[in-house]
Amino acid sequence: MLIFLWAESNGGVIGYQGQLPWHLPADMHYFKTTTTGHTVIAGAKTFASFGRPLPHRTNVVVSHRDASAFPTGVTVLNSLDAVRQYAQAHSTDQLYVVGGAQLFSGLLNDVDRLYRTTIHADFPGDTWMPTINYDQFIKIGERVGQRDATNPYDFEFERFERR
Ligand SMILES: NC(=O)c1ccc[n+]([C@@H]2O[C@H](COP(=O)([O-])OP(=O)(O)OC[C@H]3O[C@@H](n4cnc5c(N)ncnc54)[C@H](OP(=O)(O)O)[C@@H]3O)[C@@H](O)[C@H]2O)c1
Repeated sequence: MLIFLWAESNGGVIGYQGQLPWHLPADMHYFKTTTTGHTVIAGAKTFASFGRPLPHRTNVVVSHRDASAFPTGVTVLNSLDAVRQYAQAHSTDQLYVVGGAQLFSGLLNDVDRLYRTTIHADFPGDTWMPTINYDQFIKIGERVGQRDATNPYDFEFERFERR
């Protein structure tokens, strides 16, 4: 099952200067607990932003470069078709596409589920989530985030499944 997992702020901003525009520990915790034990599929820029392979997860990177450009143990796929084939071959696994925008746009027609964090705040951005037609999806879960001193924004977690 192919699942998009991302956080967006006002205007669909998801990235700035190669990193997340915000610091939101509650969302980092959500990311970690949701993906641990499963597979993360990241574009090469997003993978670079992690700084290292994510522990306790199968790490798949999408890049035109070959595997020698990446740490040992990382699976490198060279095209979106290779991602589709990988998804077919691992159809019972939870495969989390964790961005960035290039991967989200390219796999929009293939995704089975959407796990979206919405942050109701303005941030500078240079990377945006592609437009998603939510008519094609049905909401299967939602939870309001707890605003506090270390998470000083209004935010919520939602899950959608393709109809
Ligand atoms: N808010 C969120 O939830 C979230 C999630 C993820 C990322 N982000 C942010 O988004 C930004 C990065 O996103 P991005 O869209 O610029 O980059 P990206 O999708 O992470 O990575 C782009 C790279 O992926 C590879 N790639 C993409 N399509 C490919 C294809 N069809 N075949 C082979 N390789 C392909 C290429 O790597 P090569 O150049 O190596 O060939 C390309 O340069 C960062 O600021 C990051 O922090 C935010």
